[in-house]
Amino acid sequence: MIQKQKGCNDIFGREAKIWKYVDSVIDALMEKYNYTYIRTPIFEATELFHRGIGDTTDIVTKESYDFEDKGGRKITLRPEGTAGVVRSYIENKMYGDPNQPVKVYYNGTMYRYERPQSGRDRELTQFGMEILGSDDPLTDAEIISLAVNIYKVLGLKEIKVNINTLGDTESRNNYREALIKYFKPHIKDFCEDCQERLKKNPLRILDCKVDAENKILKEAPKTLDYLNEESRDRFEKVQEYLDIMQINYEINPNIVRGLDYYNHTVFEIEANIEGFGSNNVIGGGGRYNGLVKQLDGPDTPCVGFACGFGRLVKALELEKVKMPIVEDVDLFLMYVNEDEKKNAAYLTQELRLAGFVVDTEYTGRGLKAQFKQADRLNAKFIAVLNSEDLNNNEIKIKNNKTKDEELISLDALIYYLDEQLNTMDIDDGCDCGCENDEHDCECGHDCKCNHKE
Ligand code: HAM
Repeated sequence: MIQKQKGCNDIFGREAKIWKYVDSVIDALMEKYNYTYIRTPIFEATELFHRGIGDTTDIVTKESYDFEDKGGRKITLRPEGTAGVVRSYIENKMYGDPNQPVKVYYNGTMYRYERPQSGRDRELTQFGMEILGSDDPLTDAEIISLAVNIYKVLGLKEIKVNINTLGDTESRNNYREALIKYFKPHIKDFCEDCQERLKKNPLRILDCKVDAENKILKEAPKTLDYLNEESRDRFEKVQEYLDIMQINYEINPNIVRGLDYYNHTVFEIEANIEGFGSNNVIGGGGRYNGLVKQLDGPDTPCVGFACGFGRLVKALELEKVKMPIVEDVDLFLMYVNEDEKKNAAYLTQELRLAGFVVDTEYTGRGLKAQFKQADRLNAKFIAVLNSEDLNNNEIKIKNNKTKDEELISLDALIYYLDEQLNTMDIDDGCDCGCENDEHDCECGHDCKCNHKE
């Protein structure tokens, strides 16, 4: 049997429904924030990632899926979305659009050759958003608040937002010097990669996975002590906007991020849920003012964020967040003979087009087994099509929970189902499944129920 590759996942069944639901919530929210969707290729020129993400990052040196195509071009499967978006921004001259800044969002698969473990995959799905063309600290706050609001609207409660700043070029250079001075006497106790990082990019020592527990590393100088006045003021402004937006956060000077393109604000969002495991950062991002220029575009300040889909869905499941995913069918139609089957074909078509979730029998089961199948599908209503009723233009509909049965005219079927299902929904409380039957429902979903404020 051929098996899937290490660190890859098949998403199907209930989990796939959750993924699609999360997608729909993100789409709806991004529309409200006025971001447009962007799709960029899954593979790009290797150079894009080397120059964009940084030659000394783990993502580029150890984790990238590189290959040469049949034309001899050096190609890399994208490990993240930002570099591709920036390449597209430059190539399509989006900087020339009078409508600035450009606000885009994306989702898709990324590839990192990591050691697979829970929450760390080789093929991962991210959604992300970027604001290109503004240096306003309000955009830093908007990206952080947007990320938080996505989690909130989805119903996730146990999240923690950690923010930090790396400062501008001058501050980063000061910090770099301080790190070199600090690590130099101890560097022999660090891994070989870190010894190399000290020469090329000492900041990367701070996110070394091998030396993560080293006391020297933990007590290394912090970025906040090396900020110039301008960078400090800017960071304060970001915090001021976050406070106005009532976003809770903590300043965590250990956040430096694993990609080279950042300056100023950086942040990570953790899921603080018991049993989540150590890979609990469900999203991260920050400002990257130098990247567009570095990739041969005009000097353009940018800020962005990306979230790991798999980790987010795991958090939703572990927190037992109720989600309005359709796990039951409105009506299951059963039949015995060919004539009834044809009627089932006609009625399923009619009712599905009218908006109901309808299913029927496809595998030649007997009637008893069809009843079992209806239960497996959590059918709210069932109907055994019967030639005699059908000839009278009638159908017997049974509520599969109460077992109440009614003979109704086929002409009234749509109205009947509509009325019955709506009454059921209201009885169950909020349509999103939050079961809130108070008038102050805060689920944030577009509820059908009458509890919406
Ligand atoms: P990142 O921190 O490398 O940032 O990835 C963002 C998120 O993707 C992580 O917080 C995590 O949830 C998820 N993730 C990363 N690696 C894996 C993995 N191997 N398996 C499962 N999930 C993973 C970026 O990618 C930046 N492009 C974010 C950004 C956008 N910065 C500015 N704009």
